[in-house]
Amino acid sequence: TGYVTYDPGFVNTATCSSKITYIDGDAGILRYRGYPIEQLAEKSSFLEVSYLLIYGELPTAAELTEFTDKIRLHTLLHEDLRRFFDGFPRDAHPMPVLSSAVTALSTFYQDSLDPFDQEHVEISTIRLLAKVPTIASYAFKKSIGQPLLYPDNSLGYVENFLRMTFGVPAAAYDVDPVLARTLDMLFILHADHEQNCSTSTVRIAGSAQANLFTSISAGVNALSGPLHGGANEAVLEMLGDIQADGGDVEAFVRRVKNKEDGVRLMGFGHRVYKNYDPRAAIVKKAARDVLARLHKPDPLLDIAMRLEEIALADDYFVSRKLYPNVDFYTGLIYKAMGFPPKMFTVLFALGRMPGWIAQWREMINDPETKIGRPRQLYVGYSSRDYVPAEDR
Ligand code: CMC
Repeated sequence: TGYVTYDPGFVNTATCSSKITYIDGDAGILRYRGYPIEQLAEKSSFLEVSYLLIYGELPTAAELTEFTDKIRLHTLLHEDLRRFFDGFPRDAHPMPVLSSAVTALSTFYQDSLDPFDQEHVEISTIRLLAKVPTIASYAFKKSIGQPLLYPDNSLGYVENFLRMTFGVPAAAYDVDPVLARTLDMLFILHADHEQNCSTSTVRIAGSAQANLFTSISAGVNALSGPLHGGANEAVLEMLGDIQADGGDVEAFVRRVKNKEDGVRLMGFGHRVYKNYDPRAAIVKKAARDVLARLHKPDPLLDIAMRLEEIALADDYFVSRKLYPNVDFYTGLIYKAMGFPPKMFTVLFALGRMPGWIAQWREMINDPETKIGRPRQLYVGYSSRDYVPAEDR
């Protein structure tokens, strides 16, 4: 009190200490629990990385099997929760549907919400990881008017999600293993990113001792913004607009540089990375591979690569250290897989789930945690007297 630091956007303020994720933004380095993102993306699996983030170590084979089996047991949604999906408008964006359903989970498990009860936190962790793919696929099915599919627990985590999303009850659905592996890898890349906007939101809500479900629901809502997770959807829209305008990439870059109508190059720039986002490098390669494998050449990929090329050679972007971020190429892969743009940020949320959980658990167990409560600089009126309505 008496002295406050003014730091809009927390650009220079650390609000916690953490052992989970390390970023060196100048060098373009990202590590989860010390492991380089490149190694995890290539060699690990999403559930293994989830375990690593949440429990701090890579699981043994037996631990991974036990973790996977527990998640498998909890993929079903309560039938009453299934009915929630009928209440939303047909064209509802799936992000608020997801956050509503995650909040609603807390009403179905009211006897296990104590943030300080180890068993409660454990079962909530498993329920979240298990049920969120089911919720996400139901939000999608609802938007296209198709029947909801129950989970098939003989399938892997990502395979099950793909089948619930793209399968129909009347026909068999063969999951393409290359697509499943690519989506699993993209989930790994999104799994944590230290104190970003949504994770900070999860921690702040949790610092008031809000339960795991409601804290994470707050994070889903923060993620939906176009400057954060919503950027992957915004990138595709931007690429589509450029294409519709005749593919004049140079003209678009000029508009960005002149800050016309506040237009930004979506999928570029990052608060922490002042170098190439290491995730973007992996995604760029995957985008090329997946599109080639699916024999789905996409003119938007050419536009994206041309945009990158021009931006990286232009002083506006170079002097501001603006490079492609993780969202720049992901949308092109999701599109090729058959997801509509509305689902892109939901996929980000599925990937970020273990990071939010790990960060919330670290926060709740940290003896230094205090309720998040920033200060302000008051710049309004000083004291003035009330005036009755008839005299105003
Ligand atoms: N296009 C054009 N100019 C930009 C961009 C961009 N994408 N990003 C930053 N700038 C400019 C900005 O106008 C400012 O210039 P000036 O000094 O002339 O005013 C300078 O670069 C610094 O930008 P800032 O807004 O102060 O930077 P920030 O750290 O507050 O914002 C950001 C970071 C990611 C919100 C921002 O770069 C941005 O809006 N990018 C586009 C949206 C996007 O791709 N978001 C995804 C982020 S990565 C993963 C995720 O969270 O989803």
